[in-house]
Amino acid sequence: MPCIEMGGNFCLTQAQIDSCGNNHVPYPADFQEWEHVVFTHSGRSAIITAVHHLGLEGCEVLIPSFSCHSITDAFSACDCRIHYYLVSCDDLTVKDADLFRLIDEHKPAILYTCPLFGFDTLSSLRERYKDIQHMGIKIIEDVTHSLFSGLASAAADVVVCSLRKWLEIPDGGFVWGLNDFDTARFYQTHQEETDIVLNFINASKLKQEYLRTYNDELKEVFLPLFYKNNGIFGDVSRQYRMSSFSLDILMHADFKRIIETRRANYNYLLNHINNPLVEIIFSALPIATAPLYMQIYVHNGQRDALQQALIKERLYCPIIWHTPPQVLEQCPAMDVDFHEDMLSLVIDQRYDIQDMERLVQNINRFR
Ligand SMILES: Cc1ncc(COP(=O)(O)O)c(C=O)c1O
Repeated sequence: MPCIEMGGNFCLTQAQIDSCGNNHVPYPADFQEWEHVVFTHSGRSAIITAVHHLGLEGCEVLIPSFSCHSITDAFSACDCRIHYYLVSCDDLTVKDADLFRLIDEHKPAILYTCPLFGFDTLSSLRERYKDIQHMGIKIIEDVTHSLFSGLASAAADVVVCSLRKWLEIPDGGFVWGLNDFDTARFYQTHQEETDIVLNFINASKLKQEYLRTYNDELKEVFLPLFYKNNGIFGDVSRQYRMSSFSLDILMHADFKRIIETRRANYNYLLNHINNPLVEIIFSALPIATAPLYMQIYVHNGQRDALQQALIKERLYCPIIWHTPPQVLEQCPAMDVDFHEDMLSLVIDQRYDIQDMERLVQNINRFR
């Protein structure tokens, strides 16, 4: 049976609510291929922890123009002065000439990079990491989108990640590459943000009930709880360690299944979307790639109309990302206008091929 609704926040199962967090799970030193990581409550917190440890508060930093407000917020919380380098609309790779012009002009202490949607949009820039590092610039690569794609991100000085995009965890992020960082002390001196966990558990219970009953009134109760958590994450003035509840889920997650399902769903969309208004940005799925979403362009200014048409069918495909106001102030409109045509199709492990069929039918019939 296809799910009648797609998208929206991940939520916990009753079994997870009952069992997780009861057993003490020690913070592991390693995660996937990353050794000596520090688990923070969010991606923002990982960035802030990195900047503080590097002693680079108040520095000049370069961020891609295609990014989200939380990244800007994290660097602003460190009093950094932010400049945005441009990303190409063709394949979301970095426009090297613009980046090196900004490096010359602003002499940044940090270059923040981020491969997008699981694809290696940084492959050619990474070849120049050494040159950039030789200029005394620290590279912070954000693997939030590319966590399972096995990219050569360790060539950066520091790696940061927000884990919540991949599975049903209330909080979580990590930072890797901080030399001489006292991890034990970090866990001792940073608390968990327990409200985030409680709100997520309560919202999950109600969302599960909604998914059983389709009683829309429940949405009015669980959505504000998820939004409340967004507000807590938005407060960048305090850093927390990742909660033991989330750690428990993370350590028991079946990442193989998560990756296989996402790849199968992506491939299905790749082979079946057939609407002249829709252009798939990454039109091949390389073998090791674990996609986060399928990013598309919707031409003729029809992005919002398609998103609304899908919402009418309870298919919630997000806009990743709404362009932060600071980007609009700093970058020429013609270089960032294309952000307005992008939509992110949901392909995650909650859904199967039947769900993809329904998504495709609705996309293909859209005019
Ligand atoms: C690429 C990327 N990095 C970092 C963040 C911030 O993560 P968090 O919401 O866990 O603070 C986000 C949030 O959307 C993101 O998309």
